Amino acid sequence: MLLSEIKSIYHKELGKIYPKEEIDHLFYRSIEHHLGLERFVLVIQPQFTLTKGEEEPLFRTLSSLKQEIPLQYVLGKTHFMDLEFQVNEHVLIPRPETEELVHWVLDDISSQTSDIGHQTSDIKVLDIGTGSGCIPVALAKNLPNLEVHALDISSQALKVAKENAAKNKAEVTFHQHNILDFSLKLELEFDIIVSNPPYVREMEKSKIENNVKKFEPEMALFVPDEKPLIFYEAIAQFASKYLKDNGLLYLEINQYLGQETQALLEAHNFLEIELRKDIFGNDRMLKAKKR
Ligand SMILES: C[S@@+](CC[C@H](N)C(=O)[O-])C[C@H]1O[C@@H](n2cnc3c(N)ncnc32)[C@H](O)[C@@H]1O
Repeated sequence: MLLSEIKSIYHKELGKIYPKEEIDHLFYRSIEHHLGLERFVLVIQPQFTLTKGEEEPLFRTLSSLKQEIPLQYVLGKTHFMDLEFQVNEHVLIPRPETEELVHWVLDDISSQTSDIGHQTSDIKVLDIGTGSGCIPVALAKNLPNLEVHALDISSQALKVAKENAAKNKAEVTFHQHNILDFSLKLELEFDIIVSNPPYVREMEKSKIENNVKKFEPEMALFVPDEKPLIFYEAIAQFASKYLKDNGLLYLEINQYLGQETQALLEAHNFLEIELRKDIFGNDRMLKAKKR
């Protein structure tokens, strides 16, 4: 069959679910993944023809996409900060907004260490709710001398995160903990705590795309309407205990709750709180210093 015919079938079969540009993206990512073909192949060779064996994985992928399974889960991988990460239904698919949070941490560490002649090896970082391990692996890869720790409640997520650290040759120490369990005891203190915890309220479910709602882990996304900041409260309490004095907290936040999250940190005596917008112009990140 001609590759162009398969592209038309993708558009026909997925047209009711995704916009045209998104279907193009899904098709080109599929041919790149399964056949190693670049997206311009059809421009150079409009008559490019596939064997039955080459068609088969493209149709298999199409069938999963029709069920609205996110492409990253279908292919079992995604990219974050130019690194490859395995993903499955136990972990959130890393988002570009979270890359911005990681850049913020990296930029601050780089400028601080060059200003005061500190070694990055003196710096201990913890990621709370690590999922695929995208945050700690990206931090450890970019600044290999950091001492990086990460925790999650989910053993299945931690399994994926450990595999991602190993595959990317990043040194990260993983812990299985429930951040909402206030009896939690650690023998460690950190210079930096970073987190992208669950923050989508149940009432916001209607605004969320179907493929996210149906396939990404509930536990990674949603919080009760009546306690939307439950994780931020727990993290603030945890950070009051386990962050060193003058240590920094970096949080991804619910865009509709920027002021409330800032007020919560103020109530916990954090200082120099800075609220930042993401590339889409939404309040998305907070940084705060422990007194
Ligand atoms: C929004 S996801 C973030 C995943 C990853 N850090 C990222 O940015 O893609 C939140 C993560 O918090 C974890 N989580 C949920 N409840 C938790 C709890 N009580 N204690 C620790 N981790 C929890 C979930 O398993 C999930 O991996």
